[in-house]
Order: sequence, then structure tokens, then C-alpha cells
Amino acid sequence: MTYQNPTVAQTAELLTQRFQELENKADILKAVELKALYAQIPTLAAEERAGFGKEINALREELQSLVDAHQDQAEALPPIDVTAPFDVNVPADKRPRLLPSQMGSRHPLMTERDHILDIFYRMGFAAEESRELDDDYHMFTSLNFPADHPARDDYDTFMTLETDKQGNRLVAPAHTSTMQNRVLQKYKANLAAGEPIAVVVPDRVFRNEDVDARHEHTFYQLEGVYVGKGVHAGNLIATLKTFLQEYYGKELEVKTQPFYFPFTEPSFEFALSCPFCDKKGCNICSQSGWIELLGCGMIHPNVLRAADIDPEVYTGFAWGCGIDRLVMMKYGIEDVRHFESGKLDFLRQFA
Ligand code: DAH
Repeated sequence: MTYQNPTVAQTAELLTQRFQELENKADILKAVELKALYAQIPTLAAEERAGFGKEINALREELQSLVDAHQDQAEALPPIDVTAPFDVNVPADKRPRLLPSQMGSRHPLMTERDHILDIFYRMGFAAEESRELDDDYHMFTSLNFPADHPARDDYDTFMTLETDKQGNRLVAPAHTSTMQNRVLQKYKANLAAGEPIAVVVPDRVFRNEDVDARHEHTFYQLEGVYVGKGVHAGNLIATLKTFLQEYYGKELEVKTQPFYFPFTEPSFEFALSCPFCDKKGCNICSQSGWIELLGCGMIHPNVLRAADIDPEVYTGFAWGCGIDRLVMMKYGIEDVRHFESGKLDFLRQFA
């Protein structure tokens, strides 16, 4: 398309070039240069206005058709099957291209998880992975949930149609506590050697939640298990306080209040002074100055027995904490759904 008016012709050249580079092609229609052309109309002599106006309209239409053509092309492209083996006989420059990895970045939750693990490694803990499908035994029975106990309903999780040997459906774990029995079994030789069991499990859990700014169906938890001789609730509080002060890099106050979990006795809800506002009151702590952060307690004797550990000789504590919440408080993130959203605007702030 050629334009008579030199300003329009220049703008046309500039904008068609910029169009090639734009990530969001439709943004070309909002270009300030285009707006500036329209703004010029009232300043022109009456007899020039009509011709000039026609030319800008033509330019706008040209840009619109570029955007439309791009859209059609994108829709017409067949999706790339990234799992397909590539044909070694096809020359390298003709093979389908995947995005180069340097265009990506680590997810903030993974960076923070590693930071959290570093703190626990320095405190002498080992780390174990959880799993994404588990059985009823590890989800409930080994954790002292009696069959048909209403406390099972607190963990409204997803189940498969597939069943385990007892005929129970497999579950997408609703908490990392599913790993307690395995961790106790795996590390119980430590106890005979006079060493404690000290393990954290940072991993993904799933719940059938009504999703909102504070609730996600998929999130991360950090489970902690510590067992030894003479371990008491003071050790639990000191361990968590030490970790949280290290993670937030500041002195914090903590408090506990009684709670109920089948797998701990006594059980506590653990709160810390809001690290974001230092108890002054802010949106993160709903103006209360305190954050109820996690569940914890002294491991129930039945949970130790289920792993063949004698509760008369050994005692221990455990806790379960949402990693997403820890991270939200650190950076003042107001909506948990950002993490799983794949929104680049959000992710790039942490890249
Ligand atoms: N599993 C609990 C939950 O997701 C959290 C929890 C509470 C874990 C107490 C523990 C614990 O290990 O001792 O709600």
C-alpha cells in the first residue's frame, strides 16, 4: 500500500516494521503514532482533512488485516507433538523447534523450596519426596484415622477409579503427612544408632477446594518429622521458630494454641507474628498482626507403633506447613492462584 501523505507513509513503514517484532500483534492498533495521526486532523486546513483522514483510515485497515492474517495463520498451524521422536534424516534446520530453555526461568515456588531445604539441611534434616498418587493406608490408616472417622472428611481429596489391594481407591495426597510412615520406617535405624530421625518432605498436594485467593486445588506443603529420645514440645517450637526466623531473616514471635489432628497428641495450631508488617496489621495478616501458619504436634503413639517404633522409648514431633503461604508472606503475594496460573507477568518478577 502506498500513501500520498509523507507523514502517513512514514508511519506506515514504521508500524509495519514494528508489527514484526511485537509479541502481542494486536497492540499495533494501539500505537501512539497512529493516534497522533488522528490527532492531527483538526489542525489541518479544511480542504486537506478529508484526504488525510482517508489515508489514515486506510492505514488502520492495513494494520487490522495484518493482525487478522496473523491470527488465521496461528490458528491454522498444526499443534506440535513434542513427544514425537524426530526423524534424524531431516536436516537440523527443518526439524520442529522447541523454545530454547534460556527463554524460561525457574518457578518461584521451586526457588523458594530449595531455599527452605538449604535451611533444613543446615539444621541436620534430610529430605524425601512425596508422591502424586497414594493409598488409603498412608493417607489415613497409618496416621491413626480410624475407619469411617469424620476427620477423614477434612481432607476432601481426589480419587482414582483404580483401587489398591484392599479395594480402596487410590488418592491424590491431600497432605504430605502421607509420607510419615515411610520416613519413620526408612530412618528408624538411626534410632538404634543413637541418632534422631530428622526428615522434611516438601512436595505437591491436592484438594477438592472451592478455589479462591487463599485456596488452591494444587499446592505445596512442607512436612517435618523429628523423633528421638526425650524429644518434647519445646523442641518443636524452637525448631519451627529457628527455621522461620532464618527464612524471613528477622526476629519473630510465635505462639501455639490447642488443635486437633488424629496423628498428633497434643496437637497445635502454630502462629507467627506477621513478617510482612511486624504486627502492625496489614492485608496479608487480615490486620491481626498474626498469621496462623501451620499444624503441628507431638507424634501420636499409634503413628510411631505403625512404624514399629516403641513410643515408650522414643517421642517425636511433626508439622505440616503450606509452602505457597510461606512464599506469599515473604513477597506480599495477594492471590495463591498466581502460582499455578502460568501468567508471565507474575513469573517474570521472580526470574
Ligand atoms: N497434614 C496436616 C494438614 O495438611 C498438617 C499437619 C498437622 C501435619 C500436624 C503434621 C502435623 O505433621 O503433625 O492439614
